[in-house]
Amino acid sequence: STDTPPWPLPFWIAHRGAGRLAPENTLAAFRAGAAFGYRAFECDLKLSRDGVPFLLHDDDLDRTSSGRGPAGAQDWSQLSRLDAGRWHSRQHAGEPLASLEAMAAFLIANQLAINIELKPNPGQAWETGEVLGREVTRLWAGQTLRPVFSSFDPEALAGVRHSAPDERRALLLNLPRDSWLDEAKALGCCAVITNYLLMDAARLDAIHAAGMRALVYTVNDEPTAQRLRALGLDGLITDAVDRFSPAA
Ligand code: G3P
Ligand code: MG
Repeated sequence: STDTPPWPLPFWIAHRGAGRLAPENTLAAFRAGAAFGYRAFECDLKLSRDGVPFLLHDDDLDRTSSGRGPAGAQDWSQLSRLDAGRWHSRQHAGEPLASLEAMAAFLIANQLAINIELKPNPGQAWETGEVLGREVTRLWAGQTLRPVFSSFDPEALAGVRHSAPDERRALLLNLPRDSWLDEAKALGCCAVITNYLLMDAARLDAIHAAGMRALVYTVNDEPTAQRLRALGLDGLITDAVDRFSPAA
């Protein structure tokens, strides 16, 4: 049959694995978020020089690893030897960068959901989406709980659509622009994820009227979370995994 698998994301989604409690975008962060009861995560993905998808937020390695310079200028064989935990805390020294493959194994073994944000190296938006779509299709073969792709860059989502037309896509929005809803529709998106400062009743209704889900990042305070939830928000990405119970 061709039944569409259910929408995979619950309301509460842990940002970069576990926000700031563990080194972002590492398996240690996913383990920490899961220990607080989180069943869904957001993470940032890009490609090594030799085309291996791995988790990193910044263009450069400097802030969150022992490496230096542009992340896309090194092969995975080099990147996989870096320390991506010591910058955060002594406790996490030796934690490696996570490949997409290692993250997939952990998520599938524990039946956890993922929002994969494409954070392409400069000039690699379409290629990053195309490779990620292919790799996710391979790694999640036969799985019902499937990743949701997101990006601020429409080109990256177009790349995903090319290699994995059936996977779910969401447009990220940081600054409003006139064409945002038309762009999301044209890309066949099933959700729009905005900066929480941009989300209000009118925007939420417009997203729902277009048949899409409405989510926000990154909310860390209770009043904002409650206000947006009361409006009918479908999902919220947070750093505060120790403050917001995902059972609520
Ligand atoms: O995916 C939403 C959010 O993660 C976007 O901002 O900079 O934390 O990746 P950033
Ligand atoms: Mg992100």
